[in-house]
Amino acid sequence: MPKAYFTTPIFYVNDIPHIGHAYNILATDTLVRYWRKKLGRENVFFLTGTDENSQKTVDAAKKANEAVGPYLDKMAKNWQTTWEKCGIDFDDFIRTTEDRHHQKVHEVLQKIYNAGDIYLGEYVGKYCTGCETFLKEDELNEKGECPDHLKKPDELKEKNYFFRLSKYQDLLLDLYAKNPNFLQPEKRKNEVLSFIKSGLEDISISRESAEIGIKFPFDKSHTIYVWVEALINYISGCPEGETSDFWKNCTHIVGKDITKFHNVIWPAMLLSAKISLPKEVFAHGYFTIDGTKMSKSLGNVVDPLDLSDKFGNDALRTGLLSSFEFGNDGDFSVRNFEEFYRTKLAGGVGNLFNRVIILVHKFLDREKVTVTTNEVDIKKDLEKFNNLLEQKKLKASIDHFFTVVDSANQLLNDTEVWKLAKTDLEKATDIFGQLLNKLVVLAQMAEVILPESAPKMKTMLGDKNRLGKAIILFERIE
Ligand code: MSP
Repeated sequence: MPKAYFTTPIFYVNDIPHIGHAYNILATDTLVRYWRKKLGRENVFFLTGTDENSQKTVDAAKKANEAVGPYLDKMAKNWQTTWEKCGIDFDDFIRTTEDRHHQKVHEVLQKIYNAGDIYLGEYVGKYCTGCETFLKEDELNEKGECPDHLKKPDELKEKNYFFRLSKYQDLLLDLYAKNPNFLQPEKRKNEVLSFIKSGLEDISISRESAEIGIKFPFDKSHTIYVWVEALINYISGCPEGETSDFWKNCTHIVGKDITKFHNVIWPAMLLSAKISLPKEVFAHGYFTIDGTKMSKSLGNVVDPLDLSDKFGNDALRTGLLSSFEFGNDGDFSVRNFEEFYRTKLAGGVGNLFNRVIILVHKFLDREKVTVTTNEVDIKKDLEKFNNLLEQKKLKASIDHFFTVVDSANQLLNDTEVWKLAKTDLEKATDIFGQLLNKLVVLAQMAEVILPESAPKMKTMLGDKNRLGKAIILFERIE
């Protein structure tokens, strides 16, 4: 059986999870569920975790008046339990403060060093702690500030180790020529390609003054640049390591803001260390909330747990993922979300299951109900759904699910089967059969996009001989 390995970015622990992060991990979890269904659970691996060796986590711990170690433990736990509460079914949660990660980082950095790609030099430049990156003059705003963090970067002058990124310019172009899907969607690939073509400079990969981090294996007085070691988490947490089929079939799901790291620096590091590359990177877009950027200062940051507590995890997942297509930028509004819940979930699929099951029980002898499964239709709808998921079209796959819901509701209303059953039971039985077929397809699709409702749907559908009782899938919320 082929293997598949999916990763999310590891999250900075100084922050608390918001729906921007939840969007990334829910999308990944949805793709994982599709592949687990196709390849079997043991052949699919899902890794997430936390990025902890960053100066900003030390600053945050100080601000909170807490010792760094316990602060990191507390924050990492918060990320992990948040994702568990949101119904994310990851296989492993990696923290970059773990030994297994430190060991792997040493191994990989030593390989890059042995390849002659690390040298000592002096760095003078402007460093933004918010981004954990050096910024060039032309990347700053008119006030000389980082445009994302609106803060003047620190002037740094220190002895640094450098990675010979410039050496990999042509090899990277070659990689993209040979593997056009290494970065998707196309738009993001073009950005990265023009960045590479504009000329790659060697990058500083050490800090002398960092208060936290992993030391170089060959020089313990220097700390490894957090991004360089963070990327290695994907190997530290890979089942069976970097020579395994999991690794070769690895998909990194990232936000579009971090493609330079995942699509320039990371493949160059791997080429240098002579480690095979992951299969692909998919970069999704960013969303605004009601048309404005989500930010703490604006006070419009949405906590995924607030939505999940009130509407449930299936609503959180499908509401977010169906707001705009995966790969594009978009907007999220709580008002549209509530409308989606009311019309598509409670009034749509929830109501459909309830009505059909209740009607079948009312008119047919439940012991004798057999679902006249019309295989062709089921296959056609499922195939379309699966194809969309193979292409990572998450919104389209959810939309297709609701097209089937709508067609079932239409069949129900057009035939007025509840009246028909009183005059022509034979004809009505045939319609009930068609409706139950649709419910069977929906229950199968739900395993991927509505994983908490899927078992309830299955219970309602019962087995070949006996239909289950109606269950309310989505409570009406005022
Ligand atoms: N620690 C790095 C990743 C290292 S991976 C080796 C990092 N962490 S992060 O916590 O800041 O961001 C994690 C992910 O959340 C990124 O993919 C980022 O793009 C995503 N998002 C953060 N805000 C977002 C939105 N408003 N919309 C969509 N995705 C967003 O970067």
